Amino acid sequence: MRILLVASAYNSLAQRCHTELLDRGHEVSVELALTPQTLVEAAWLFRPDLVVAPMLTAAIPQALWSRVPCLIVHPGPKGDRGPSSLDWAITTGARRWGVTVLQANEVFDAGDIWAWAPFVVAEYDKSSLYRHEVTEAAVEALLLAVARMASGHLTPEPLDYDRHDVIGEPRPALRQPDRRIDWAHEPTEDVLRKLRAATSQPGVLDTIDGEEFFLYGGIAEDTLRGPAGSLLAMRDTAVCRATADGAVWITHVKPRTRPDDSRPFKVPATVGLALHLSGVPQVAAPQGLPDPRRTYREIHYWEHHQVGYLEFDFPNGAMSTRQCRRLLAAYRYALSRHTRVIVLGGRRDFFANGIHLHVIEDAPDAQAESWENINAMNDLVAAILTTTSHLVISAVQGNAAAGGLMLALAADEVWCRSGAVLNPHYRLMGLSGSEYWTYTLPRRVGEHTAEALTSRCLPVNARQAHALGLADQVVPGDPATFRTHVTALAEQLAHSADLPGRLEDKTRRHRGQSLERTLERHRARELDQMREDFASATYQDRRSRFVRRIRPETTPAHLALHRT
Ligand code: COA
Repeated sequence: MRILLVASAYNSLAQRCHTELLDRGHEVSVELALTPQTLVEAAWLFRPDLVVAPMLTAAIPQALWSRVPCLIVHPGPKGDRGPSSLDWAITTGARRWGVTVLQANEVFDAGDIWAWAPFVVAEYDKSSLYRHEVTEAAVEALLLAVARMASGHLTPEPLDYDRHDVIGEPRPALRQPDRRIDWAHEPTEDVLRKLRAATSQPGVLDTIDGEEFFLYGGIAEDTLRGPAGSLLAMRDTAVCRATADGAVWITHVKPRTRPDDSRPFKVPATVGLALHLSGVPQVAAPQGLPDPRRTYREIHYWEHHQVGYLEFDFPNGAMSTRQCRRLLAAYRYALSRHTRVIVLGGRRDFFANGIHLHVIEDAPDAQAESWENINAMNDLVAAILTTTSHLVISAVQGNAAAGGLMLALAADEVWCRSGAVLNPHYRLMGLSGSEYWTYTLPRRVGEHTAEALTSRCLPVNARQAHALGLADQVVPGDPATFRTHVTALAEQLAHSADLPGRLEDKTRRHRGQSLERTLERHRARELDQMREDFASATYQDRRSRFVRRIRPETTPAHLALHRT
């Protein structure tokens, strides 16, 4: 079918749906839902058989839905309506939720139902649920709906609140007064729900020492305690705050205003709350084998059966200079251990998204901070590329982009979770990129494909990544199942008879290629270009718009095939 994919933002869900539809042989073009007129124009230009909208915050205009069938992906079970579906699911403590695919008509969210898929609401924040449970259910329901529509002999089911499986209901938008936290009286579980329902948008508006912030996060803390509402501790980039009966971690804040009057944007909690943290202690993270304790930590190293697991969970996958340096120190520690295999990767959300654009934007000298950050990233990648003592595996459990994906490619093997979406390019940020990608990417996929991937700027799903050579294995399942598989595979590898031979080969190859000199050349060439990129108005403008979530004025040309 010719499918016009319409989305308010080309976000991870839109990207995943796009790649899955292409995989099934459909011809797909993308239009951002910027104005009703441009949507109608796009349909006129592309002449689609079908419009699909995986992520839409505005109504489809009648001029479009009355001419072409439009399938809307709604993140709620049958009968659920309104703009705050997931917020309500978390706020009301729903255990089961779902994604419904309905056909647009004159009443918002009330069209005929083509398909739906249920999911269990796990204890994570809204954006994490969205990237995992919602995305999997949405892809399942959307593909089913498209297949049903393509078959031509199935009809959708009208919304009927008398049916037993219509469990949703219309709900209003959740507003800031509903989200307010009463720190003195509310118990941890209520505070967690409020923070999670508002992360990553719109945050919970709150006042700390007279200054207004939007708060984001919602990770429980089992041990730290103190007077309700007080800031108890810092760890990595997060701040721990006491509730009436416990404590929670806040990972990001957005000040309501900025001193330079520019539009505010999110920064790590320790950065945004810096002026309010005097006397607040830094507390170390518990280390050792994974335990059921609930707390916050960005880096965690543990060992089992000759495998070292270096887990990193940087919020939003962004890696600031300090985070890169901390991870490098942890990597060096992992190298010093008598293990044979090192597994790199996080527990759930992003694998990595490259240098920390929000921290850079907030720095007094953004150009200098960009430079520090990319060099810290490169030092980390170089350490992985030059490792001969261990076999290194990147276990890509979540989405990865730009330098964060190139970081994964530095390992000997890349194992990718089947639901991950990879963006192997930098250009949309006005950067040519570093992290030794000019060495690692062509080594894996060949010069021609490397050029295509970095210039076309399109996402690839795990299956496509495997076909291209970006990933060595695709491991199915949700993040928890993925970890179980990865652990079994890594332990098998650590005890395989050919491991010593593989390590010797690696040492010989590195010596033969005089790898360090080769890498130095790649780094120098990449950084020469990056120095210019960092000074460019394009990068500064794109970075500023990205962190402030400013939408583009038109659909980018690489997505809108119908406009080229
Ligand atoms: N630095 C800082 N924050 C980043 C980031 C980065 N490199 N990459 C992503 N984020 C943040 C976003 O600001 C967003 O924050 P919020 O949801 O808390 O407001 C969050 O991560 C999710 O990003 P979003 O763009 O909404 O997710 P997505 O899944 O729709 O898209 C990407 C994922 C990776 C395609 C997109 O985030 C992106 O292009 N990131 C920039 C990659 C990059 O250019 N890195 C620098 C060069 S190495």
